[in-house]
Amino acid sequence: MSRRFRDQAEACASLGSPMYAELLGRLADDIDARGVTAEVLAGHEDDPGPSALALRLVGTVHRLVLERRAGDLATCYPSVGGTWDLATAWPLLQRLLRERGAEIRAGLESAPQTNEIGRAAALTGGLLRIGEVHRLPVRLREIGSSGGLNLNADRFAYLDDGRVVQGPGHSPVRLEDCWRGRPVVPWPDLAVVERLGSDLAPVDATTTDGRLTLTSYVWPDQRERLERLRAAFAVAAEHPVEVRPVDAVSFVRDVELREGTTTVLWHSVMWQYLTKEDQAAVTARVETLGAAATERSPFAHLAAEPARRTPGAAHEFLVVLRLWPGGERRVIGVMAPHGVPTTWE
Ligand SMILES: C[S@@+](CC[C@H](N)C(=O)[O-])C[C@H]1O[C@@H](n2cnc3c(N)ncnc32)[C@H](O)[C@@H]1O
Repeated sequence: MSRRFRDQAEACASLGSPMYAELLGRLADDIDARGVTAEVLAGHEDDPGPSALALRLVGTVHRLVLERRAGDLATCYPSVGGTWDLATAWPLLQRLLRERGAEIRAGLESAPQTNEIGRAAALTGGLLRIGEVHRLPVRLREIGSSGGLNLNADRFAYLDDGRVVQGPGHSPVRLEDCWRGRPVVPWPDLAVVERLGSDLAPVDATTTDGRLTLTSYVWPDQRERLERLRAAFAVAAEHPVEVRPVDAVSFVRDVELREGTTTVLWHSVMWQYLTKEDQAAVTARVETLGAAATERSPFAHLAAEPARRTPGAAHEFLVVLRLWPGGERRVIGVMAPHGVPTTWE
């Protein structure tokens, strides 16, 4: 079990969370020493790797911190104004694990749920690429939406060197220097006329509980991710978006095209959770919609997902666009795992 915590610690180190890299390493040591961490995790020794047990544990603890129910441990969490220091945090965390063990064990049952606002950089950049061909009003459809926050992506501001390139200048969500590579072609009058999401387990980002869920799985020392998320909550409060509690296959079955609009089906970092059969079913529906598309009712499939360019190549977070009529598959960019920056090709 400690191996998985050490692997997660390495991942956090490489993805810019020195705090979790240290914390998860310390938790791994405590598991090896059969300390209180091992007690809290008892029974989870054989959980499958993808269940992300380590992130479930630190996410549950983070939630207690955010709810101000973790005592002085909060003083070590930058997400609530504290300063990370392992030597101070560790005895406080050990005490929390002892005192609130049962509650923390219950939290382990929930899968980590994130909604990464940075990925709007990849999704909106893809929309602008569509706008180079068709400048019709856009109908957005999303699978694996989580809280549906990125369905408001056109309401975020995209900046280059402090200058707003796309989106409303007054938006609280500000994605700074989010685009590199091939220059984007702005679409100032981009009009999203419909937006609809779906998820197996949607999070209602207009409730305190939903906001806490999404915030607790963001790594507490990643200030920019937290700021973006909180800003996107403010946009969602003003512009709530419907996220239907249905699986991806059922949802795409109901997607239709409409004359005079471009229908865009997009998704980010959710494909890996679909079974092979479900991936095939979604792909088949995409092909059917593509075949029905016309110049007056175009259809786009825009994916920002970990994938390989060619069999055997390394995984990258590729931004892939298929646009019908035509439907040629094009890798249009590569995003960082959390979206910013996205480099266009
Ligand atoms: C890693 S999150 C990504 C959320 C969001 N797209 C983003 O980029 O921030 C993956 C999401 O896919 C959802 N999901 C997993 N399997 C699904 C399925 N079969 N149908 C629809 N959504 C699914 C999960 O509930 C989760 O919200």
